[in-house]
Amino acid sequence: MSAVLPGQAQRVLSGMRPTGRLHLGHYHGVLKNWVQLQQQYECYFFVADWHALTTHYENPQIIGESVWEMVADWLAAGVDHNAATLFIQSRVPEHAELHALLSMITPLSWLERVPTYKDQQAQLREKDLDTYGFLGYPLLQSADILAYRAGIVPVGEDQVAHVELTREVARRFNHLYGREPGYEELAEKAIKKMGKKNAKLYLELRTAYLEQGDADALATARALLEGQKNITLGDKERLFGYLEGGGKMILPEPQARLTAAAKMPGLDGRKMSKSYDNTISLRDPPAEVEQKLKTMPTDPARVRRTDPGNPDKCPVWEFHLVYSDEKMQQWVQEGCRSAGIGCLECKRPVIDAVLQELKPIQERASEFSRDPILVKNIMANGCQRAREVAEQTLDAVRNAMGLGYN
Ligand code: TRP
Ligand code: SF4
Repeated sequence: MSAVLPGQAQRVLSGMRPTGRLHLGHYHGVLKNWVQLQQQYECYFFVADWHALTTHYENPQIIGESVWEMVADWLAAGVDHNAATLFIQSRVPEHAELHALLSMITPLSWLERVPTYKDQQAQLREKDLDTYGFLGYPLLQSADILAYRAGIVPVGEDQVAHVELTREVARRFNHLYGREPGYEELAEKAIKKMGKKNAKLYLELRTAYLEQGDADALATARALLEGQKNITLGDKERLFGYLEGGGKMILPEPQARLTAAAKMPGLDGRKMSKSYDNTISLRDPPAEVEQKLKTMPTDPARVRRTDPGNPDKCPVWEFHLVYSDEKMQQWVQEGCRSAGIGCLECKRPVIDAVLQELKPIQERASEFSRDPILVKNIMANGCQRAREVAEQTLDAVRNAMGLGYN
């Protein structure tokens, strides 16, 4: 059963942890993607400060030191607060409430078998991650996603399991709470509220889907429901569920959208990452960028200028793959293998390209940094917008879980 409400199918949610400076890996791997998505979808991008605490609870000052600069970098990179809703997780307490409520129905074993749990504990040995918060963090992520009933979650490979967990939790939730007493009767009443013509059409389409598996009929019926102005959100949920023979669809299942692995190489040829100390930060001054690139390692076979090399063994080549056109790449391949060019010569176009890419970003970032009130206002507005949306979901969730009493 595909369980994405049409309106929510167009909703994207993604978060980033404020645990230090952003670097080119974030720019190529995440931010450029966000900038594209914001033009096509209803996007929610947030600062995952509670997520940061799950691994950085011992030195939390890093959060306050990173948040505003990080947001300024988002804006500088082209993320648009008018196109997307930008907010801070801890300022939308609905995330915590939904996390608490979902924790009631989430089997412990589902969390224990999320691969990042054991992997990260092993990788971050210097930290004590035998905490309740760390075990529960994928469920916090589920709450982040489900609070907005987001249909699309752009993620890297390592986060796919978290979206999968989210789908299972949503399914379990709908299964447990989607069938209220008198459900069939309520559905029939709701159908009547659509008016004779629409009600008849809805029932025909439902039959075509349930009896013949007609997917077009399902899509048409969903569009029909989406356009209904006379029925409440609760009735809509009911009728979306009823369409597929099930109960209410309170929490739609999201889809993971794998970001086309825009693999940004680091200065040492491994993936660019703070933990490898191989990054170019978005804030590095030009002289430092130049220095880092000039001193980065090349194919060790090229001891002397006259020794031929192999770009496949050289991290500079990885940069050419990101920044250079085909002609330039050919120049590198031939020049390197024949010792026709030197390594510094080879690095020059990369240095120029990185500097050119960073220049406008740094200019805009420094404008935002000079106007901290502006950035804070942008986020305050975003938090308010986010809360309004999350509150609608929480209302439905509280009611479903028996908390709607007076
Ligand atoms: N867990 C992600 C990370 O560590 C950040 C994140 C938190 C996130 N909540 C999310 C990403 C929801 C996508 C959707 O990088
Ligand atoms: Fe690397 Fe270029 Fe030097 Fe070849 S010429 S080893 S590709 S830096």
